[in-house]
Formats: sequence, C-alpha cells, structure tokens
Amino acid sequence: MDNVIDFINVNRERHLEELKTLLAIPSISALPAHVADVKRCADWCAEEMRRIGLQNVRLIDTPGYPVVYGDWIGAPGAPTILFYGHYDVQPVDPLDLWQSPPFEATVRDGEIYARGAADDKGQVFMHFKAIEAHLRTSGRLPVNIRIILEGEEEVGSVHLDEFVRAHKQDLRADVVVISDSPMFARGVPSICYGLRGLVYFQIDLRGSSTDLHSGSFGGAVVNPAFALAQMLAQMKDRGGRVRIPGFYDEVVPLTDAERKAWETLPFNEKRYRKDFGIPKLFGESGYSTLERTWARPTFEVNGLLSGFTGEGAKTVLPAVAMAKVSMRLVPNQQPDRIAAQFEAFVRRIAPKSVELKITRMHGGKPWMTSYDNPFVQAAARAIERGFGSTPVFTREGGSIPVVSTFQEELGLPSVLFGVGLPDENAHAPNEKLDVANFHGGIIASAMLYDEIGRAAPGRA
Ligand code: BES
Ligand code: ZN
Repeated sequence: MDNVIDFINVNRERHLEELKTLLAIPSISALPAHVADVKRCADWCAEEMRRIGLQNVRLIDTPGYPVVYGDWIGAPGAPTILFYGHYDVQPVDPLDLWQSPPFEATVRDGEIYARGAADDKGQVFMHFKAIEAHLRTSGRLPVNIRIILEGEEEVGSVHLDEFVRAHKQDLRADVVVISDSPMFARGVPSICYGLRGLVYFQIDLRGSSTDLHSGSFGGAVVNPAFALAQMLAQMKDRGGRVRIPGFYDEVVPLTDAERKAWETLPFNEKRYRKDFGIPKLFGESGYSTLERTWARPTFEVNGLLSGFTGEGAKTVLPAVAMAKVSMRLVPNQQPDRIAAQFEAFVRRIAPKSVELKITRMHGGKPWMTSYDNPFVQAAARAIERGFGSTPVFTREGGSIPVVSTFQEELGLPSVLFGVGLPDENAHAPNEKLDVANFHGGIIASAMLYDEIGRAAPGRA
C-alpha cells in the first residue's frame, strides 16, 4: 500500500486539476436545456474510466440518460465491489448567490467550490483516483470492481430500478460501495447505515378561469392561494406530527440502543443553529434533531406559487395556486402506500370551490442495514487508516433511491462512506468539498479496496 499512498500524495495537485475539468460540465439532469451537457458528462466519465485502466467501459442506454459502466475483474477469489455514483447535478439557481461561477471550480480556504463538488462528482472522482493509483503502481486491484454511474439521480433515478433488474448478470457483486453522503462532522468520519425514502407531489388548485379584480370579486370567489395555505396547514399539527391518516402505521420505532448511541455523537445544537441561521429549532415533539432527521418521517413544502409576487402592490385574486410538496420516509413506510394516503387526504380536505389536480413525481424507498457485516467492518478499518480516526455510525435524512433496489433485487449490502461535510451546500449556492477530505478520501478509498479484498472470499 505504501506505493499506492505515495502515488496519491505525489499526484495531489493533478487530481484537483482533473476534478475541475469534470466540474466544468453543467450536467443538470432536471433542465431540458442541459440534455447535451449531461450526455457530454457521461462521455467524459467513460473516457476517464478507460484512461485510468478500467475495462469493458461503455455507455448503456436507458429511456433517459445513459448509465456509464466499467469494470476490472482481475482478482480471482476476491470479493467484487459494485460501485455506484451519479454524474448528474442539481440546478444552480439562485445564481446571484454564488461567490464564484458554479461551473468554474474555484479553490478558496481549502475548499473547492462548484456545483457537484460534493454531490456527487468529487466523491465519484475520488474513487477514480484511488483505482488509478492501484492500477498505475501495481497493475492490479486488490478486489474486483464494477462501476455504474447514473445520470438521473437528482431527478429520482426513474429508470434505474428497471436497469438493475435487466442487468442482474452484469452487476454480480458481493457488496455495494457508495460515496454520496456527508461525513458526520469535520474530523469525524462516518459510515451511514440508513437513508430516508421520498414521495414527491405537485398540487395545483384553480379557482377561476382567469385572474380577477380583487375588489370586484374578492369575498365571493375562492382565493386558491388561501385554500392551498389552509390545506397545507392541515398536514402537520403544532407538535410537528404529520396528520395524514395512516402515515405512521409502518414506521419502525427508534431502538434504545440507537438513541443512546446518537446521544454520544458530537452534535452541537447551538452551533447547528448558528451555522444555518436558525432562530429556534422546530420538529416533532419528543425527538432530538438527529432523531428527527435520521429516523422520523416528515412532510415538507418545497415550493409555493400564486398571485402577484413582484415589487409593489397589485390588487388581484389569483386564478391558480401551486405547491410542490414531499414526504421523507423511514423504514418500513412504503412510498406507494404513503402516496395513496396523501392523495386521499388531499382530496378530502380540498374545498369544493377549487379545481384540484394532484401530480405524483419521483421518489424512492427508505433503506437501513445492520452494520455488523464484514464489509462495513472493513470500511471502518480503511477509514481509520485513511483519516486517522475511527468512523462513527450514522443514518442520514437524504435519499439515494437505488440503495434499497440493490438490497431487494441483488441481495447486496451497501457501504456508504462519504467525505462531504454537513455544511457542503449540496443543492444550494456555493456547494463545496473540503480539499483535504477529497485527498484523504482518495487514500481511504484505496485502502477500502484493500480491506474489502481481505474481508471475505468473493462469491460473485
Ligand atoms: N447525495 C444525495 C443524497 C444524500 C443527501 C444522502 C444527504 C445523505 C445525506 C443525493 O444526491 C440526493 O440529493 N438525493 C435526492 C433524491 C431524490 C431526488 C429522490 C434527495 O435526497 O433529495
Ligand atoms: Zn448525490
């Protein structure tokens, strides 16, 4: 391993320069204007995968963006890693809040700023460089590896479940490795053993065929903005509990062991409030902040639109109102069942005075694994070797829809080892990745392959 680590240290600057090239591609999967960019990014990744010495590299078409595949199966008897990551990124608006352009990666104070720096290009690239270091120094890897990169993660991985089902043979492996999550805190590396799921909806209300004069019509015709606000207000009670009937039926309660373990994590609530400018925390009564975000489901309004929002005042009764809402789910809530309960509730509480349209959007299942399998233990050793401290075990509030699919369709456990930070600004302006974590993450990833190679005999 010494040669590998030397190689990584010597190439530190080159790694960063190459990452900048990847970060320059605006592969925003949500926006039709970027179709060509997303495809270009897939090509770029494939080219890079060939360059570092992976084999059988190809783009595999889906009805949406292609999956980039590559492998190195030269370690007979050793386990096979299925590495998953995504090459698409979130939109960048509001653009004026970025301190440097989102697709011109800029290093400031030890952080590299760009859309995708942490989520997920920087973390994918860290594995590329770990693989490259092994292959360049010894001509081999200590494990077999298959890589799949998706271009639709940020829009709900709509075609990936089908892809996994159709390519079971190509995806034969012993364990999934993913780096698409933050570490617990600066200097506190972590392994994540649970993710929340998601169901997402758009609600449209119409109260009239056109906007109306609020003096001539106000008081006699429904105001859809008001109706929508009243409906949304019924989604949660004052104690932060979701009021959709049946919503909590399948929720697996937190165990005492988890609660105790999480209490020992170095989480500073004051600091958290200060970092994010939160005057006072709010959430479901009876749960701590970590419990609320990691182990409890929630209902959130992601966007609201209605009426006049320009400067000045306009007396108008809007014709329509729209809300984007989503629910984060925990094991064992089923997205389809929750979606049906939500729709039934919305139909019941919508006033007769409005026309209602409900549109279901993307989503994914929640996931949780036990962390006593040999691969997780191997990852813990690798992180300790790479970062110099033992990782803590965390769950996360975000979602990676395919993780539960890997479990259900391929029977594979996943190891989620992320090197982002909680203040990485993922999905927000000024997304960033700590350069030292990127570098340490390359070393830890290289060690991860080494540790996994020795953790168990390969079966795939
Ligand atoms: N990298 C995140 C997932 C994540 C976020 C994991 C925070 C752990 C902590 C991922 O790219 C993401 O944002 N996923 C979406 C999925 C959705 C579009 C189905 C999410 O969580 O909103
Ligand atoms: Zn991501």
